[in-house]
Amino acid sequence: MTHDVSIPAQMRQLIDLLAQHNHAYYVMDQPTIEDSEYDQLFQQLKTLEAQYPEYLQADTPTDKVGGKALPKFENVTHVVPMLSLGNVFHQDDLFEFDRKVKERLPHQQVQYDVELKFDGLAISLWYEHGVLIRAVTRGDGETGELITENVKTIRNLPKVLCSTHQPVPELLEVRGEVLMPKAGFEKLNAQNAAKGEKLFANPRNAAAGSLRQLDPAIARSRPLAFYAYGIAQCQPHHEQSTMSASLAWLTQFGFAIGEQHFICDSIEEVQQRYDEINQLRAQLKVEIDGVVIKVDDLKQQQQLGFLSREPRWATAYKFPAVAALTTIENIDWQVGRTGTLTPVARLNPVAVGGVIVSNVTLHNIGEIHRLDVRIGDTVSVYRSGDVIPKVEKVWPEFRPQTALAVHLPEQCPVCDSPVVMPEGEALARCSGGLYCAAQRIEAIRHFVSRKALDIEGLGDRWVESLLHLDLLNNVADIYSLHQHREQLLSIEKMGEKSVQNLFDAIENSKKTTLAAFIYALGIRGVGETTARMLAQTFQTLDALQAADLEALKKTPDVGAITAEWIVDFFQAPHNLEVLQRLLAAGIHWDAPIAPTRQPLNGESWVITGTLSQMGRDQATQMLQALGARVSGSISSKTKCLVAGEKAGSKLEKAEKLGVSVMNETEFLALMAEYGQNL
Ligand code: IVH
Repeated sequence: MTHDVSIPAQMRQLIDLLAQHNHAYYVMDQPTIEDSEYDQLFQQLKTLEAQYPEYLQADTPTDKVGGKALPKFENVTHVVPMLSLGNVFHQDDLFEFDRKVKERLPHQQVQYDVELKFDGLAISLWYEHGVLIRAVTRGDGETGELITENVKTIRNLPKVLCSTHQPVPELLEVRGEVLMPKAGFEKLNAQNAAKGEKLFANPRNAAAGSLRQLDPAIARSRPLAFYAYGIAQCQPHHEQSTMSASLAWLTQFGFAIGEQHFICDSIEEVQQRYDEINQLRAQLKVEIDGVVIKVDDLKQQQQLGFLSREPRWATAYKFPAVAALTTIENIDWQVGRTGTLTPVARLNPVAVGGVIVSNVTLHNIGEIHRLDVRIGDTVSVYRSGDVIPKVEKVWPEFRPQTALAVHLPEQCPVCDSPVVMPEGEALARCSGGLYCAAQRIEAIRHFVSRKALDIEGLGDRWVESLLHLDLLNNVADIYSLHQHREQLLSIEKMGEKSVQNLFDAIENSKKTTLAAFIYALGIRGVGETTARMLAQTFQTLDALQAADLEALKKTPDVGAITAEWIVDFFQAPHNLEVLQRLLAAGIHWDAPIAPTRQPLNGESWVITGTLSQMGRDQATQMLQALGARVSGSISSKTKCLVAGEKAGSKLEKAEKLGVSVMNETEFLALMAEYGQNL
C-alpha cells in the first residue's frame, strides 16, 4: 500500500501548530485562535491519525490533555488524574456517540445527563472531614498547581462542609470549574478600561488570570464563582447511583452546580435540549461553550470505562462559534464626558450569534497597538450572550496593501483642541475641557442621569437644543432655565406642558443626597461607589473640598490617582464657580447617615500573635473602619485570621477549619488596597 508522502509532514505541522496554541492558551492565558479553530485543527490531526496509524508521532497531543503548570506555584500530582473529554460538533457525531455507548451496553436502558459545559478553568478540591485542605488546577491532567489560598477567596465555594441531612465524608474530592460570571467580567473590564489598564479577552482569561495571582488579595477582589460537576473520590462512598443524584447530593453541602441540567431518555431528546440551551445561552449568568453529555448511571459509567485519556461515558457537544469575520471600514474617535478619546471601529455589518454588529469599541490606543489593527483589516468579531461584541483577532494574512495604520489624532475631532496623553496614563484626552461641546454635552447628560440628579425631563433632545441656543453651557445653567421660559417655548414642539414638566423635574432634583451630588459632578475616577464612600467618609461637601491627598487616599475605593483627580477638580476655579451656583440655586441634601456599605461589612476577623508594625488595637480599628467585626476566637464562620509572630493555637485551629490566614504583610497590603494606611 502506498501513502501520500506528505502525511507525516502534515501531522508534524499540525502537532507544532497545536503545541504553540496550547502554550498560548494554557500557559500564557492568551489564546491565539478561537476555540473552534483549535478544535478543527485537533480534529484534523485525529482524522489523519485514524487513517494513517503507522505515521503516529510520539509527541502527538491527541493522547494528552493540555499545557504544563507554571513553575511559580507548588506542583501537586493528582491522585485521580483529571482527564479530558471527547468532542462532538454535529448531530451525526452525537448519534454516533450514542451508538457506541449502546453497543457496549447491550439490552440496557440508557439515560443521559445533559449539563452546561462551563468555559472556565477546571480545578480539584480536596476536603478532609469537611475542611477544604487544598485546591489544585488541572494543569496537564497529571500535575497541577496548588492554588488553595486563591480558591478560598471564591465566595460561593464552601470552605467547610456541613449538612443537616448527610454525614460529612472523611474524604471528598470535588471537581468543577472556576468561572467569572458575565456580569462581573463586564464590570471588571469596564473598570480596567476606565483606568486604561489591560483588558481581558474573555471571562475565561479573566478567571485564569485571577487564579494565577500569587497574591490572594487580588483574587479576592475578582468576582469568581465555582460550579461543581463531578466527584473524583468519596470515602465512605456516597451511595448515590447516578451522576445527576451525586450532583444534587453535592448541593446539600453548599456547592453550586449549573443553572440548567436535564435527564434525557433518548439521544433525540439530548439534541433537543442542546438546541434549547443554545437558545438560552445569552440569558445564562455564566459563559458556556456547549453542553456535556454524560451517561447518568454510575455503574454504566464504570462498565464503559475510558479510552486513552477520555471517558467513553461522556462527551462535550460544542456550540458553533459565535465569532464572525468582517472588515474594518473605519475607526472613529469618540470624546467622552471627561474628555477621554475612545476609538470605535466601524465594521462592515456582520451577524454574530444572531445579532448584527456594525460598531465595536477598541477601548484605547494601547488596545489598537496590542491587536495591531488597521483600517481595511479582516477581523474576528466575537460575541457571547450579553457580553459586548469585541474584536478578538486580526488576520494579518488577509491584510490588503491599502490597509491604513491608526494613529491617535493630534486634535480633538469635536473641538480641535490638542489631544494629550499624560505620561504613565493609557488614555488620551481632549484638553479642551468644557470648551469642548462633546464634553459639555456629556457632562450635562451625566449630571441629569438617574443615579446622579435624576432630572428625567431633560433628555438628549432638550440638551442638544439648549446647547444650540446657548442656554446651557454648564450644569449650573440648568437651574437658570426658568428665566428663559419664552425662549424654551419657541423651540419646535416644546409646548407649555412639556416646558412646565421640565421645570418641575428641575425643581424636584434640588433635593438630593451628598453621594448623588458628588457622583453628578463627574469628577474623573469617581463612579457611583466611590462617590458613596466619599460621602460616608467626609460627611459634608466642605470637608471633601478641604481634604488633602493623604486624607482622600484613606477613603476605601480611592487610590492615589483618583485622589489627585479629586484634588484637581476642587482646585479648578471654573468648577468652584459652578459649585457655588449649584448650591446657591438651592441644591441640598440631608446629612449622610452612618456608613452602611463597607467592604468587609459583617465579616468576622480574628487577630493573633505579635504584629511588628502596629499594635493589635490599631489593626482592630482598621478592620472595624471597613465594617468587620473583630472577635477573640476562631470558628468556621471566621472570615480570616491575621497571624503575627508566635501565633499559637488560633493559627492551628484556623488551619484545621480551613479559615483563610494572612500574615502581617498581606494584611497591610489588603488594608492599603481599601485605603487604610498606617
Ligand atoms: S465532566 C473526565 N462536566 O470540560 C472528565 N466537564 O473538555 C469529566 N467542563 O476539563 C469532565 N463543564 O474543565 C465535565 N459540566 C461539565 C463540564 C466540564 C466544563 C470542562 C472540564 C474539562 C473539560 C474537558
